[in-house]
Amino acid sequence: MKKLLLQLDSNRLPSAFDEVVAYDAGADVVMQRGGVTAADVRDLIHGCIFTRGPKDLRNTAVFIGGSDMSAGEALLAAAQKSLFGPFKVSMMLDSNGSNTTAVAAVIKITRAARDVRGKKVLVTAGTGPVGARAAGLLAKAGALVTITSRREEEGEKARSGIASRFGGTVAMVCMRDASEAGHVLDTVTPEILLNTGPAGVLLVPRDAWSARRGLAVACDLNAVPPLGIEGIEVNDDGKDRGGVTAFGAIGVGGFKMKVHKACIARLFENNDAILDAETIAELAAGLPA
Ligand SMILES: NC(=O)c1ccc[n+]([C@@H]2O[C@H](COP(=O)([O-])OP(=O)(O)OC[C@H]3O[C@@H](n4cnc5c(N)ncnc54)[C@H](OP(=O)(O)O)[C@@H]3O)[C@@H](O)[C@H]2O)c1
Repeated sequence: MKKLLLQLDSNRLPSAFDEVVAYDAGADVVMQRGGVTAADVRDLIHGCIFTRGPKDLRNTAVFIGGSDMSAGEALLAAAQKSLFGPFKVSMMLDSNGSNTTAVAAVIKITRAARDVRGKKVLVTAGTGPVGARAAGLLAKAGALVTITSRREEEGEKARSGIASRFGGTVAMVCMRDASEAGHVLDTVTPEILLNTGPAGVLLVPRDAWSARRGLAVACDLNAVPPLGIEGIEVNDDGKDRGGVTAFGAIGVGGFKMKVHKACIARLFENNDAILDAETIAELAAGLPA
């Protein structure tokens, strides 16, 4: 029986990246739908659950993506609501690679720091899909997390969303651009620095973080020059940079791909898995980083 992956994307054009990974991870057919809203989901899910007998439903699964995290969360909630009794299919949420990238970065950081409990973590530009998930997972693990945003109101909204979704300690400080990074690091005094700013934006100049007392681990997820943390190279994967264990976007990206593929494969093992941040983190914990 063919393994069918229904890809529901909140963007008009469904992600080609997610499609390629789905095939590479073992899906036989990827059924892409773009511009999907919560109101569309019930009928799409019913199309999946009523076509194959319950014992065969592990061969059908749902992947939810798109660049908008809140839209993805709404699609997942609507999809879960459409299931009942034995009529279930496994589902995964990974809007903009949020969960798989955040999980990969958090595992690398945690292994380098040994333990994140009670440690101060600064997540620059932590309001996007990847940063919010990473901040949440770190806060849930007991770290004292601060995210930055250029915008007070939006930053506070993101902070509150992360804290209510994951629990733990999450603060927010405004950082309008890279010129304020030094002051923000002076104030937060992080032991761990994670940049989740957009591609091609330098947010933390070298002077702001290098030779800073207490900083032990730094990770930059921006792969596009100029990189997000000046002085960390894209291939860094646990490299010592003046006493700081450094990770760059490709250094994390290889593990992210492993996590993403393992999740897709996991969807086809049975018909009731729901893969979101926490469950993806559990699955990834068993993989070599
Ligand atoms: N290595 C990997 O495997 C991998 C995989 C996926 C993604 N990524 C990378 O991970 C990073 C985060 O992804 P994402 O989708 O979460 O990012 P994003 O949503 O594009 O950006 C994150 C935040 O950056 C801030 N921002 C936007 N434009 C900015 C600008 N011009 N200057 C300063 N700040 C700006 C915004 O926050 P405010 O408006 O609140 O300031 C936004 O919420 C990206 O660099 C992405 O390319 C890496």
